[in-house]
Amino acid sequence: MNLQLVTIFILINYCLAVKDYLFKSCNQNGFCHRNRHYANQISLDSNFQSPYYIDFNQIKIDGDKLRGTVLKIGFDVKFPFEISVIENSFRFQLDEIRNPIEHFVNHNRYNETSKWAFNKDLSNDKADYKINDDQILMTYSDNHEVIINLNPIKFTFYYKNEEVLLINDKQFLLVEHQRSIENNKLLPQESSFNMFSDDFKDSKSDKLPLGPESIGLDFTLLGFNNLYGIPEHADSMLLKDTSGKEPYRFYNVDIFEYETDSRLPMYGSIPLLTAVKKDVSIGIFWVNSADSYIDIKKGKDSTIHWISENGILDFIIFIKDTPKEINQVYGKITGFTQLPLLSSLGYHQCRWNYNDIKDVLEVSAKFDEFEIPFDTIWLDIEYADNKKYLTWDPQNFGKPDEMLEVLERTGRNLVAIIDPHIKTGYFVSDAIISKNIGMKDNEDNTYRGHCWPGESIWIDTLNPKSQKFWDDVHKTFMISDNHKNLHLWNDMNEPSVFNGPETSAPKDNIHYGQWEHRSIHNVFGLTYHETTYNSMLSRLPEQRPFILTRSYFSGSQRTAAMWTGDNMSKWEYLKVSIPMILTSNIVGMPFAGADVGGFFGNPSKELLTRWYQAGIWYPFFRAHAHIDSRRREPYLIGEPYTSYIRDAIKLRYSLLPIFYTAFYQASISGSPILKPIFYDYYNSTNSNIFEIEDEFFLGDSGILVKPITDEEANEVEFVLPENEIFYQFTNGIIGDKINSSKFKVGINDIPMLLKGGSIIAKKERYRRSSKLMKHDPYTLIIALNIQGYANGQLYVDDGESIDSEFKMINFEFENGKLSVNSTGDFSLPIEIEKAIIVGANEVDPELGPVTIEDEKLVIKNPRVIIC
Ligand SMILES: *[C@@H]1O[C@H](CO)[C@@H](O)[C@H](O)[C@H]1NC(C)=O
Ligand SMILES: *[C@@H]1O[C@H](CO)[C@@H](O)[C@H](O)[C@H]1NC(C)=O
Ligand SMILES: *[C@@H]1O[C@H](CO)[C@@H](O)[C@H](O)[C@H]1NC(C)=O
Ligand SMILES: *[C@@H]1O[C@H](CO)[C@@H](O)[C@H](O)[C@H]1NC(C)=O
Repeated sequence: MNLQLVTIFILINYCLAVKDYLFKSCNQNGFCHRNRHYANQISLDSNFQSPYYIDFNQIKIDGDKLRGTVLKIGFDVKFPFEISVIENSFRFQLDEIRNPIEHFVNHNRYNETSKWAFNKDLSNDKADYKINDDQILMTYSDNHEVIINLNPIKFTFYYKNEEVLLINDKQFLLVEHQRSIENNKLLPQESSFNMFSDDFKDSKSDKLPLGPESIGLDFTLLGFNNLYGIPEHADSMLLKDTSGKEPYRFYNVDIFEYETDSRLPMYGSIPLLTAVKKDVSIGIFWVNSADSYIDIKKGKDSTIHWISENGILDFIIFIKDTPKEINQVYGKITGFTQLPLLSSLGYHQCRWNYNDIKDVLEVSAKFDEFEIPFDTIWLDIEYADNKKYLTWDPQNFGKPDEMLEVLERTGRNLVAIIDPHIKTGYFVSDAIISKNIGMKDNEDNTYRGHCWPGESIWIDTLNPKSQKFWDDVHKTFMISDNHKNLHLWNDMNEPSVFNGPETSAPKDNIHYGQWEHRSIHNVFGLTYHETTYNSMLSRLPEQRPFILTRSYFSGSQRTAAMWTGDNMSKWEYLKVSIPMILTSNIVGMPFAGADVGGFFGNPSKELLTRWYQAGIWYPFFRAHAHIDSRRREPYLIGEPYTSYIRDAIKLRYSLLPIFYTAFYQASISGSPILKPIFYDYYNSTNSNIFEIEDEFFLGDSGILVKPITDEEANEVEFVLPENEIFYQFTNGIIGDKINSSKFKVGINDIPMLLKGGSIIAKKERYRRSSKLMKHDPYTLIIALNIQGYANGQLYVDDGESIDSEFKMINFEFENGKLSVNSTGDFSLPIEIEKAIIVGANEVDPELGPVTIEDEKLVIKNPRVIIC
């Protein structure tokens, strides 16, 4: 959903773009302005000497950690720091010793971002330090070395003896220490812009009780020009140079009317930037949840200037051979994506709104009448009694348990929305106020603002006391524990506040621990959906909860899926959804999707068809629409489009075993579900590979896809990695080895290829939902490479419980023989009814005996088709 207020702003200010009017540019945002100013001044002065240095006398080695203090010439300030090694990666944390102030706000620098973002129980790894007069030489893990210069402060990283990364080479390090208006000495290079007040139109009332407290630092990536990550932005996958333009911003906001080619903030932020070149990949993980900007200067070497409004300086550097290893280590620290409910990988049908129980059940029945599979129907805000979350509207949704029961008969689920803004004046908000677990305003009283229900308060999910309360109200709301098919949607959790600055909460609001909202803003959404997740677990401890969140941060992948928010029914939004979802996959948040059909407006039949054909590839596959848009459930579109959309959705269902296997792999290794070409082919001599953002592999399956995102397109051209062969696989129908990467497509075509060397397992029968496919047999497609070899994997479990038994099956085809083995104890028989082999004409065309090293696998004399 989105702001209705938008219309009002548009009316008043129709000549300006809405975004310019509402959202702060770097120049308008005190801390960004000051840091950029500082960087510019320094760049102009070749004799500049940074005042910051590491005090030699205070360096202490404490086991595998090194502790010390950074001082600032001419200022009486102390910045204690710590260097450690976490998951074989370098971590730096710098704090400040501050004096208490006479104000209820916590005066320390916020240091709990990692508490929310990281996995529990991480330990430190070994490191060795040698200290000279002016340098520290640190070695850690295999092949990692850092030289730390004390004055000027500079870190030089070596990997396998190659110099790969410099930190503070440009001397942009700035830590705005605690000051007062009276005692506010500045360096000549510093600007005093908005240090103690904010003159931006909508945030003038920000009291900035702690004054300026930003941090900024530069990273120079040597020989790297291909940079990725740092979502969420409506922009290309390959990051752009921002010199003289707006930097990329992280500030989770309810953005609307966003444009492509934009560095404006969006609903979520993942502060992981990755850089890829031949044989080396680097990740910079900036552990900070405050408003932040990232300036990028690209070249042979690329420089990143990372700036945050407050908090401690905390970052981790990953240096590895491959992008895959970056995902792996990032996932070990922040958690891998959850293995989702298998049924949540099916098709989700949503709109704002389905009006009542009858409407919901009719839609469900229509899908069956038209033989279109679907798993989940969604309820937007109108199901609740007067937009009071955690209640059901007595008139239209009076008997939710009966509705759940009917849906359950065909294996279907219901998702209901529950947002963090709680209407004032009913039992949920009353309890939040009396238990003192709401977000506070800048006078430390429960904050009141406006959102969907009118006047609202916000539950403060940073407060540990919120959990028990949330568990209790969910237990009541979700009816009897017999209904396992009710799941949740957490929207508007940036948090979106209609009358707040930049559509969010005032930065000087207060959370548990007396922390300012300013410090925790970007992690708020995560605390909210995690609290919901725990409440669902407390209700049904065995079952994997499904939650969709709009706002997210590093770590959100552990407990939620995300979607890209409110889009328009236009071709360019369809197109940009692909790079956005690829970026999310590159930074460990692969359970991502975009609203199929677009949220606002009425798509043409062609656009809707193309959107479904692209949407079946979104790891999270949901159609959604605004309350004012016409109904567009696939069966309403009319022939031939309804059939094209049915074919697309059925294709998704036939590939569910492949999606699920990819999710399993993501859940243990952090690997993407949709994988850009560069990910495996970073050593390619074709430098175009790094820019390809409209084409992707589905996990490790070998399926390569290029969705059609242009109106009236009748041809597709793939960019292909060298030294591989591909088979035609359009619409999931295996064909010949391709002899051209360019081919004709019709409106009913979904262009796909299958890489030689792959074995995939599909399920081909139509069922009404994924749960009803459980016992269906598989069809293997064996696509041989030049050597006549192929392999592949299939992951199977019960699809819903947290500790399900599983089976991981390995298929291998070599010398004309298929062998199959497996690990795990899942006992459901797995039947393969058919095997199609392509490329066999280049090897022995006879399929030899099938070797099966597992009596629980049934291969019932599969029909073998050799093409
Ligand atoms: C944050 O700082 C406080 C005070 O120094 C310390 O007790 C606490 O352990 C720190 N928390 C984290 C997560 O580092
Ligand atoms: C949604 O629309 C905006 C344009 O306003 C676009 O930039 C953004 O990338 C779109 N997202 C998706 C997933 O389509
Ligand atoms: C390429 O393949 C297509 C279909 O498989 C075939 O019709 C065509 O003749 C082939 N072209 C060449 C140049 O081999
Ligand atoms: C199972 O098959 C895979 C290849 O498909 C092979 O790498 C592995 O060694 C096999 N394991 C056993 C125990 O045979």
